[in-house]
Amino acid sequence: MAVVDLSGKVVVITGGARGLGAATAQAVVEGGGRVLITDVLEEEGARTAAELGGAARFLRHDVTSEADWQAALDHTVATFGRLDGLVNNAGIATGALLEQESVEHFRQVVEVNLVGVFIGIRTAVPLLRAGGGGSIVNISSAAGLTGLPLTAGYGASKWGVRGLSKIGAVELAEARIRVNSVHPGMTLTPMTAPVGIQPGEGNFPGAPMGRVGVPEEIAAAVAFLLSDAAGYMTGAELAVDGGWTAGPTVRTLTGG
Ligand SMILES: NC(=O)c1ccc[n+]([C@@H]2O[C@H](COP(=O)([O-])OP(=O)(O)OC[C@H]3O[C@@H](n4cnc5c(N)ncnc54)[C@H](O)[C@@H]3O)[C@@H](O)[C@H]2O)c1
Repeated sequence: MAVVDLSGKVVVITGGARGLGAATAQAVVEGGGRVLITDVLEEEGARTAAELGGAARFLRHDVTSEADWQAALDHTVATFGRLDGLVNNAGIATGALLEQESVEHFRQVVEVNLVGVFIGIRTAVPLLRAGGGGSIVNISSAAGLTGLPLTAGYGASKWGVRGLSKIGAVELAEARIRVNSVHPGMTLTPMTAPVGIQPGEGNFPGAPMGRVGVPEEIAAAVAFLLSDAAGYMTGAELAVDGGWTAGPTVRTLTGG
């Protein structure tokens, strides 16, 4: 079922081989758009694109590499003729207490999750400008809205993505380029598999809605922001988290 109308739109989605990126690629294709999925996971990325048919292609692309970014965008134009949207979705996560996080690891997470987004925006903007505008959606996190324990590098990078999105929004509005951030809560993907949460109601009592999200629920919000239906939205931070960042649950306060 198409969430929104994306007909005619060409979108690049980083980290699209699996998880939220793959679900977003599916939403774009269902909406009538075409998509270049990029990732460092070649086999999985190629398979995901093949499953979506001719409207989707895959290219190996490491978001930390400026040369890879240029190649990905050149490939998009060569294949689809234009660029309308960019979803900066690729990311890595880790869990360590701040005191135990290594400097090397902190740097690695920031490099992928934040520097990668910066290079992507910087490389895509001339192309979006040339096409008369577009939509950039940066995937931050609930960890970019609150102080989530065990996420020193990850949380810092996601707060950075949220801030960078605001800067992009104010600087690029004159070019008709909208920049928004999406903040998923706990969602079932390969990234969160090690946490061991099972699908189903009541599986995440920490969120007011009591459950984790599924990738399609995040993808729907991203697809909306890519579409012309979100034409007056820029600089927004869209939490898609079952209420996790809205406040504590009633159970937490009452001890029930
Ligand atoms: N799953 C969640 O609960 C959750 C919550 C909040 C935010 N997020 C964010 O959503 C995004 C997608 O996460 P996911 O849950 O689908 O995880 P995932 O691990 O399933 O997908 C992330 C993808 O990014 C790719 N990737 C990693 N490093 C890369 C690099 N250097 N260059 C290109 N691709 C690279 C991975 O190969 C992987 O396919 C991430 O930015 C993540 O931080 C996820």
